[in-house]
Amino acid sequence: MAYERLPILELKNLCKTYELKGHRAVDALRAVHLELYPGECLGIVGESGSGKSTLARCVTHLERVTSGQIQYRQQDITRLNGNALRQQRKQIQMVFQEPSAIFNPRVKIGAFIREPLINYKIMKSQQTEQEVLRLLERVGLSAATADKYPHELSGGEQQRAVIARAIGVEPDIILFDEATSALDVSIQQQILDLLVELRKETGISSIFISHDLAVVQQVSDRIAVMYQGEVVEVVESSQLANSANHPYTRSLMTSVLSVREMKYKMQKKNEEQEQVQFLQKILSG
Ligand SMILES: Nc1ncnc2c1ncn2[C@@H]1O[C@H](COP(=O)(O)OP(=O)(O)O)[C@@H](O)[C@H]1O
Ligand SMILES: [Mg+2]
Repeated sequence: MAYERLPILELKNLCKTYELKGHRAVDALRAVHLELYPGECLGIVGESGSGKSTLARCVTHLERVTSGQIQYRQQDITRLNGNALRQQRKQIQMVFQEPSAIFNPRVKIGAFIREPLINYKIMKSQQTEQEVLRLLERVGLSAATADKYPHELSGGEQQRAVIARAIGVEPDIILFDEATSALDVSIQQQILDLLVELRKETGISSIFISHDLAVVQQVSDRIAVMYQGEVVEVVESSQLANSANHPYTRSLMTSVLSVREMKYKMQKKNEEQEQVQFLQKILSG
């Protein structure tokens, strides 16, 4: 794919070192270079500890980088603070693995989605109620969900509510960090389908992080492969099988196959068990 436009986000030589007293320093990011283009979904894959979440937290300013630069629309945003940081945070929204971490158990879903609309003065407060209903509908939740508390929602529904809140402020970029990893396979698929659909509708740029290459490949245009704090390779998602060169990428690809095989075997086993149970039922009258 040819990208004629300028990147919306650029990471230049990004380094992050964690120094903990009494521990060896950890280089969580080592000179990371990446570009995200308008409308693109950039996947990031790598095993646990490879630096994916650190990258996400640096980009969203939850963490300060040690060195290097983050550029947003050709502006240096590496060391923002105060109101500039607040405004920047609106542009790059983040969806985490654990939705429960960002809910207040006493705040209903409607108010949860409405909050940033009011804080960022996206619209007049009288209009927000209507907007919340519109957002709920867009993520496949019923209007009645607005009146529910977080614990009354399933994991998949919670993640939909978080996505509704994120798209509500009309950000330029949404960053998903293992956003579907805690969900059952079928629910995970529904959320992935939702993301693909939303992207078609809104053209929002996104960074989709997961340890699971098969999942990343489903939603991404390009995939950056991280290994021990470095981006070792960036490949076009559709060309993964032919153009992945790095041995680590190759090893991730084989583990994808083995996961598929495992799922297939588990399914077979379930079917066999069901047949046995069925037969036992018949035989026991
Ligand atoms: N707050 C922290 N303090 C110290 N070390 C950290 C911290 N967060 C992450 N690390 C370390 O940085 C490395 C990258 O972690 P992380 O970005 O969470 O990886 P991933 O999301 O790919 O699993 C790991 O070695 C991890 O132990
Ligand atoms: Mg992580």
